[in-house]
Amino acid sequence: MNRKLKVGIIGATGMVGQNYLRLLHNHPWFELTYLAASPNSAGKKYCDAVAGRWHMHEDIPENFKDIVVEDANIVKKAIGECKLVFSAVEMDKQTIIALEAEYASQGFAVVSNNSAHRNTEDVPVIIPEINHDHLNIIPEQQQKHGWSKGFIVVKPNCSIQSYMLPAYALIKAGYPVDKMIVATLQALSGAGYPGPSAIDLVDNTIPYIAGEEEKSEVEPRKIFGKIKNGKFALDESIKISAHCNRVPVSDGHTACASIRFAGKRPELDEVISIWQNFTALPQELKLPSAPIPPMIYREEVDRPQPQKDRDTGNGMAITVGRLRKCNVFDYRFVGLHHNTVRGAAGGSILTAELLKAKGFV
Ligand SMILES: NC(=O)c1ccc[n+]([C@@H]2O[C@H](COP(=O)([O-])OP(=O)(O)OC[C@H]3O[C@@H](n4cnc5c(N)ncnc54)[C@H](OP(=O)(O)O)[C@@H]3O)[C@@H](O)[C@H]2O)c1
Repeated sequence: MNRKLKVGIIGATGMVGQNYLRLLHNHPWFELTYLAASPNSAGKKYCDAVAGRWHMHEDIPENFKDIVVEDANIVKKAIGECKLVFSAVEMDKQTIIALEAEYASQGFAVVSNNSAHRNTEDVPVIIPEINHDHLNIIPEQQQKHGWSKGFIVVKPNCSIQSYMLPAYALIKAGYPVDKMIVATLQALSGAGYPGPSAIDLVDNTIPYIAGEEEKSEVEPRKIFGKIKNGKFALDESIKISAHCNRVPVSDGHTACASIRFAGKRPELDEVISIWQNFTALPQELKLPSAPIPPMIYREEVDRPQPQKDRDTGNGMAITVGRLRKCNVFDYRFVGLHHNTVRGAAGGSILTAELLKAKGFV
């Protein structure tokens, strides 16, 4: 008997959707049975819908090529086809908010890549190594909306993972961080396809990504926050200032961070040891997509680099390097992660594995 959980992707033809397909192929717990996208793709075989815009290094997995793409806006098409949908649609925010709520009301577990619900007061924003306990809000979310089985869980913005995990490991080890300044160097794939034009990007960087700095500053405070009376209260103990830049790198977001500790600061070698020994629930539960170890410290003075480090741990590990004293705060370091894997599809799949391991699906 096939005991895998049937899952679908809405937004299956886009940059993130293609990564889902790649990562869900032969997944030990999930069977990908449903693909949906815009009305332009609906009715076409998947291979025809993505003809000329398949961006993965591997070919489209054989068993998905002939699946007929449905219109993601027609929720009833998914009923009976899958139990959980990964959402990676690109539409206006209000439309996504309503569409994801409609899937939840129809009994689907929704695990979303979109920013639309990240500020919704009862929707958890999950980095599985950090705030898996935030999933405990799901029963309250269901009760509030009258959803019997469905719910919405989201993953954070793709720019924050590479500084959140290093900061969290230090906080967990007893060294609270109260201030952080971060400059991100964000890859082109983060903008979806086709993204910025070549003329804008070759020999250039763009010091502005709409909405990104606000997300990079606020979402960490929700992730570090607490559930209070059925909603999330932001963590008030940390302040983050972010500069977000688009750079001509295909995949892999880099973050250059300076941190200040609220109290005593650890020695440099203790920080490295904390990072190297960091482990969390996804690793303890041996979730299929959990990188072991979740964080790698590179001693070389010129690492991490997107080309060399983004695929570490199948694109799910965070690579950290260049830890040194900061002349303004306490320490500075460079973090890097794969934005469409750990920062998008892979991070959501890890969240879905956590949901399954904890019995929510
Ligand atoms: N790229 C990243 O690194 C990244 C990281 C984290 C989060 N995200 C978020 O994930 C979402 C998807 O990003 P992406 O980079 O994959 O975007 P993308 O490459 O532009 O893909 C967008 C997807 O949405 C579908 N879509 C567009 N209009 C639609 C409509 N009216 N109804 C239903 N489906 C529609 C598209 O279908 P068609 O192909 O049929 O048009 C396609 O499948 C975005 O919200 C983005 O902000 C992206």
